[in-house]
Amino acid sequence: MTEREVKEVVTPVVASDGAGVRLKRSIATRTLDHLDPFFLFDHFGSENAADYIAGFPMHPHRGIETITYMLDGSVSHKDSMGNSGVIGAGDVQWMTAGSGILHEEMPRVGPRRLDGFQVWVNLPRKLKMTAPRYQDVPSARIPEVARPDGARVRVIAGDVDGTTGAVREIFAGPTYLDVALPAGASFEQPVPRGHTALLYVFQGEVAVGGEASGAAAAIPAPRLVILGDGDVVRVRAPAGPARFLLLSAQPLQEPAVRWGPFVMNTQDEIALALQELRDGTFIKR
Ligand code: CO
Repeated sequence: MTEREVKEVVTPVVASDGAGVRLKRSIATRTLDHLDPFFLFDHFGSENAADYIAGFPMHPHRGIETITYMLDGSVSHKDSMGNSGVIGAGDVQWMTAGSGILHEEMPRVGPRRLDGFQVWVNLPRKLKMTAPRYQDVPSARIPEVARPDGARVRVIAGDVDGTTGAVREIFAGPTYLDVALPAGASFEQPVPRGHTALLYVFQGEVAVGGEASGAAAAIPAPRLVILGDGDVVRVRAPAGPARFLLLSAQPLQEPAVRWGPFVMNTQDEIALALQELRDGTFIKR
């Protein structure tokens, strides 16, 4: 078993998206376009409603799947398939854009802060134009695994100690875990060799790997950690409680062209999506 070591530590950049939502972006930046099959990683979090209240008014997507995971606050949404709802603290929404959807995602002003994550997972070429679909997954349906040394793991997608996550419909089959470690605890999770793997540290600080080098540097929140190849991920919380996401998936290894909210395989497919938006033929179903 080879432990995965830190390959690169990425400091999120402050970005503005939607109608002016301030967020921390780690994937889909000038320096990190994607980590196949992950094409965007955003962390939105603020106590100041002015940072998020403008929201994400009606906008299109094609060719990807999105996973939105809320830590605090709430977001109301509706889409061109006629779905609508509100996701709040601990809830997840997954959405397959496929051939195309229009949706809006509008944070509500709450008593505390707005906090959460959105990840884009690329669709393989053969499923780019699959039927759009979506599901809200309430917090109560997300299983939690408690390890003997105190680690608590919310299994959003993937498998931990035989417990399967609540989101099973994302075609790339990612693992998506929310791991809380008390001070001094450690967490180990097998990740198949060759799969892309990353951590997003959002509370405290962690130490990763260190088996090969003999020294694991402390990585403070907020950071995205790109992991090197291996069979197992090992994360420790040496300096107090810490919390992080672990994401992994098999890379698609297909050509990809991104334009704003679309990720397709060719420039022509991007041009077609834009043409269809102008023509009013973008929504297929
Ligand atoms: Co969107």
